[in-house]
Amino acid sequence: MKGMLLCGGSGTRLFPLTKVTNKHLLPVGNKPMVFYPLYKLKEAGIGEILVITGTEHLGDIVSLLGSGDEFGVNFTYKVQDKPLGIAHAVGLGKEFVGNDDFIVALGDNIFEFNMNKLTERFQKDNRSLIVLKESKTPERFGVADIKENNLIRIVEKPKKQISKFVVTGVYFYKSEIFNYLPELQISERGEYEISDLHNLLISKNRLSFSVEEGFWSDAGTFETYYEVNRIYGKV
Ligand code: G1P
Repeated sequence: MKGMLLCGGSGTRLFPLTKVTNKHLLPVGNKPMVFYPLYKLKEAGIGEILVITGTEHLGDIVSLLGSGDEFGVNFTYKVQDKPLGIAHAVGLGKEFVGNDDFIVALGDNIFEFNMNKLTERFQKDNRSLIVLKESKTPERFGVADIKENNLIRIVEKPKKQISKFVVTGVYFYKSEIFNYLPELQISERGEYEISDLHNLLISKNRLSFSVEEGFWSDAGTFETYYEVNRIYGKV
């Protein structure tokens, strides 16, 4: 299995902290934010990781992460010229991934899911897998519509209530997803939405899910950035 660590986007929700610094380099407790999802990929036994970021901060990201020696992994880097969304960034990894299974982690997601358990489940089921978590603010995320334990659809940032189960930023994918990415259309917010890929996979019965209990938060808004620092900032 391979890994992808997504460190793109413009971080507008944390402006001006992100005016000169890439969001994923901001401190959470005593580490840069991106270390948290990186360690989780490592925990899943992944040694080959593609790091994707925009043009502005590639230098800083490389300065921080280097070859991967320090972390016991091997990094490859790829540039996303414009912040065209998560699904677009994932598409840049097609050659890197080849025919392997892979895990994508968003660089601003901090989570304590059991990666071995999830990997085992993903490999047994032989379909792509998304990780869901109950949230008090589902309207801020991709939300899973589940009926009788079946995943019906994902709604990105729904205006009315769908469910309390949100799609976290850790995705277990089969390489077949690269066949579906070209079908996606750009959304109203100007991005290729990962939820659109997930809906396509659902329509082909190629997506499963796991609802997890462990801690999870994104760190991309002032509220959540403060919260993860409150939790991980204790010395
Ligand atoms: C993105 C995804 C959303 C997901 C979230 C997890 O949202 O579009 O489906 O729930 O990451 O952090 P964004 O951060 O782009 O608003």
